[in-house]
Amino acid sequence: MESNWKLVLLLWLGSINAEFSDDWSKLQCTSQNTCRECIQQPSCAWCTKPDFSGNSRCFHLISEDSNYCPPEYSYNPDNMLMILQYKSLSRPRVSPIPAESYTHRPTSSSNTSLEEIVQFAPQRVNLKIRARERYTMHAQYIQVEEFPLDIYLLMDFSKSMEGNSEKLTRLADSLAKVVPNITTNLRLGFGSFADRTFQHAMSLSTQTNQFSSLVKKAVTNNFNASGSLKTGVLPVNSTAGLQAIMQAIVCKQYISWRENARRVLIFASNLELQSDEIKFANYDLCNWGGGSVNVARINEKVKQNSINLLFAVTADQMSNYKKVQDKIEGSYTVMLTPDSSNIVEMVKEEYNKMSAVIQLKDNSSDGITINYYSNCLDPSGEFKKTDRCENVKVGDIVSFKIEVEVTRCPRDPEDWKQRLQIYPIGVNETMYMDLEMLCSCQCEQKGYVENAKECMGAGTYKCGICECNRNHFGKHCECSSEHMYNFMNTLSCKRDPEDTSVCSGRGICICGKCSCQRDTIYGKFCECDNFSCPLSHGKICGGRGTCDCGVCNCKSPWNGDACEKSVLKS
Ligand SMILES: *[C@@H]1O[C@H](CO)[C@@H](O)[C@H](O)[C@H]1NC(C)=O
Ligand SMILES: *[C@@H]1O[C@H](CO)[C@@H](O)[C@H](O)[C@H]1NC(C)=O
Ligand SMILES: *[C@@H]1O[C@H](CO)[C@@H](O)[C@H](O)[C@H]1NC(C)=O
Ligand SMILES: *[C@@H]1O[C@H](CO)[C@@H](O)[C@H](O)[C@H]1NC(C)=O
Ligand SMILES: *[C@@H]1O[C@H](CO)[C@@H](O)[C@H](O)[C@H]1NC(C)=O
Ligand SMILES: *[C@@H]1O[C@H](CO)[C@@H](O)[C@H](O)[C@H]1NC(C)=O
Ligand SMILES: *[C@@H]1O[C@H](CO)[C@@H](O)[C@H](O)[C@H]1NC(C)=O
Repeated sequence: MESNWKLVLLLWLGSINAEFSDDWSKLQCTSQNTCRECIQQPSCAWCTKPDFSGNSRCFHLISEDSNYCPPEYSYNPDNMLMILQYKSLSRPRVSPIPAESYTHRPTSSSNTSLEEIVQFAPQRVNLKIRARERYTMHAQYIQVEEFPLDIYLLMDFSKSMEGNSEKLTRLADSLAKVVPNITTNLRLGFGSFADRTFQHAMSLSTQTNQFSSLVKKAVTNNFNASGSLKTGVLPVNSTAGLQAIMQAIVCKQYISWRENARRVLIFASNLELQSDEIKFANYDLCNWGGGSVNVARINEKVKQNSINLLFAVTADQMSNYKKVQDKIEGSYTVMLTPDSSNIVEMVKEEYNKMSAVIQLKDNSSDGITINYYSNCLDPSGEFKKTDRCENVKVGDIVSFKIEVEVTRCPRDPEDWKQRLQIYPIGVNETMYMDLEMLCSCQCEQKGYVENAKECMGAGTYKCGICECNRNHFGKHCECSSEHMYNFMNTLSCKRDPEDTSVCSGRGICICGKCSCQRDTIYGKFCECDNFSCPLSHGKICGGRGTCDCGVCNCKSPWNGDACEKSVLKS
């Protein structure tokens, strides 16, 4: 006997597994009680039909046909994308990069520099989307311009660097002459430090010639000037260096770091840098917090500001800085040599590594998932889940599919409308997406009736159902809390306390009131109908009157219990 039970149970489980997914999605619909809950489930629609007789107003679109709910009453808001702004992608700009490195050769036009550059499209979209459904849209990126590069040279002007002053001017010269061959989208700037003072000299600028002559002037003034003009006379230590690095990173308003540029800070020194904490009193320039600075703090700021720190140091300091380098993300150590070609080579390598990559990012919040797909320049390739493509050259067009999903409706309806930004990293362009989550039904927002007759005057008729007022409940708000006492008590539904059945056996007792089986049955106890009247001539009330709760109302001139008599005849 017992083993038979097990067998039955196994069979039953087997069949559940087979139909699980179908039944599950159906149940996801039918278990929802309001329109808003309904449409927050995928593939569910809500029926607003007034005299709806189906099982559940929330139904599974795939399982039910139009007999279940006529289309005009079926509420099933659809995801919708509206492209509000689509400026076409620009053509690539003429640049000093050799023509053979273009995929699509740029058309030569003297006017391109005047046009607005568009590298990412569309620019503005509106997406209406239901929770737990995915929407995929397309976007395109073209590399038109070279990536911007900002280089700030921070030089050690302390006395100990005197012998290296020539190297500093050579380095500035190379930066100004060679780096424009890597990218024309370049800005150079510089500053110096000595005796614990950081001196910002030139903000990042496209004037590369000016850069090298100003550096030369500053170096000469510092090391070759006589007497009072000389600065680097006091001994300096770690303190000055770390402090200057910190300021060059955070004093954005002076340095003018571009938002979207690859930022390189070259620190040229022979100073021994220590990685322990150095405390400062009352030092708060550019709001970096002041108080103290150490290598860990610099690492934090470097990450925050996406700056690559390049230590260009004398041979004796190489091993010291290699240790510091390990503690600062994205930092490098190179030797300060007379011709400085190694430093420029390093800058070039890093720049190329970064500029050949296009990566999309967004600022979506909790509850919104955005996935990116691309075939990354392979026209016959499959779209794979990735937000980045490599080896992108000027002129290349990269296609992205952007898949948006609202994983759940936020609690606060204010959050049902959100503005998101989707943008390629390092490019000063963005797509604004106004996301409208379809988390509630129109019929819940307007056109509803308060204290409606469908709800016994005790509730709001919304989307075909009653939302009962306080202290009322039931499908039609027919119950109120004062009935609660009688809720289980059927006495008030019996005509005679001795009756064995409630409501004359022709209805059910709800909240102490009879709800009669059929519309033709009525009365407090369902005791009335219009067909239980005396017959005459084989018809109810002889066909000469109407039947009302067992009594014939005879038409003149007829009278009698069954309207069988005529006043005229007697
Ligand atoms: C340059 O562009 C401007 C604005 O788009 C246009 O009015 C002008 O005719 C163009 N000039 C040439 C030489 O193409
Ligand atoms: C930069 O490129 C130009 C043209 O390709 C070349 O003539 C020049 O020598 C290069 N400059 C340096 C410093 O490499
Ligand atoms: C500074 O003077 C030294 C010799 O005293 C000279 O070799 C060097 O070139 C000068 N530097 C500058 C930048 O003028
Ligand atoms: C660096 O020098 C300053 C004074 O010039 C001193 O207060 C500080 O303690 C020194 N720091 C280290 C790490 O030696
Ligand atoms: C980015 O572009 C906006 C307008 O398109 C401009 O106002 C802003 O200055 C640009 N930022 C940078 C860092 O280029
Ligand atoms: C995303 O960025 C846009 C534009 O700056 C801003 O309006 C929006 O509030 C941001 N969204 C989130 C979720 O932070
Ligand atoms: C029963 O008859 C009365 C009297 O004609 C009428 O008012 C009432 O509407 C009828 N009820 C039904 C359910 O037909």
